[in-house]
Amino acid sequence: MIRTRVWRIRAGLSCRIALLSDLHNADGTEALQRLAQLRPDLIAVTGDLFLGYHALEGDDLLRTQHNILPFLEGCVKLAPTYISLGNHEWVVSASDLEGLASTGAVILDNRWVRERTCGVLIGGLTSGMLTDFRRFRKKHADGEPYPHEIRHTDAYILRPRTKWLDRFERQQGYKVLLCHHPEYWCLQEPMLIDRRIDLVLAGHAHGGQIRLFGQALYAPGQGVLPRYTGGLFTGPHGRLLISRGLSNTAPPPIPRLFNPPEVVLADLHP
Ligand SMILES: [Fe+2]
Repeated sequence: MIRTRVWRIRAGLSCRIALLSDLHNADGTEALQRLAQLRPDLIAVTGDLFLGYHALEGDDLLRTQHNILPFLEGCVKLAPTYISLGNHEWVVSASDLEGLASTGAVILDNRWVRERTCGVLIGGLTSGMLTDFRRFRKKHADGEPYPHEIRHTDAYILRPRTKWLDRFERQQGYKVLLCHHPEYWCLQEPMLIDRRIDLVLAGHAHGGQIRLFGQALYAPGQGVLPRYTGGLFTGPHGRLLISRGLSNTAPPPIPRLFNPPEVVLADLHP
């Protein structure tokens, strides 16, 4: 059973943003029904639509993962939908991206747009895992296999592209950044807490998978007893809002415990 969490955020404008994250190719029907009731102005999907961590290069993920396109098509019918790319998109192919875009959703792959419904600037920071994979492919055009077992353990190697953020934070207007990794807020470069971005939307931590007495147990990128697994955090220039995600992502037999999946609403108000 998916729950809804609503966060009212003072923003100088009105806009209801639904934050969805970490579908991981699960059935999105219940989330879509909930969204239809909530009537958001915008929908932000902060990555990990796919379940692709161990996917082989060269495969089109959309060929075998059939819940993603219906989910996005459902979102687009309800409100303008924006996507950023997470770590499970690390081998996403050009044709996969075309497939996602064919639904009418806007893919924010290290870029921003000014959207028209609420008049906010909305950007998407691509996961460092996909960024590193692209760098590696460019350097090893001969097809050398990407050694993900080694590279995926090194936070320095897995750094995202940040140059465009320098321009983004200088723009006028309310700035929303879709960024899959909450650890990019203040635990790891690009340390978004130090940037003039009004609202960062994230997922990835799955609420810590198991929660005991309100404490999350583990999150990738943060380790045991992580802090940034869900909810709203305030920095000197803006806020971080984290979704606990839409599905169970840890491999069986690790369940989600005391940690229901959620649809998050950011209710921006003047
Ligand atoms: Fe993730």
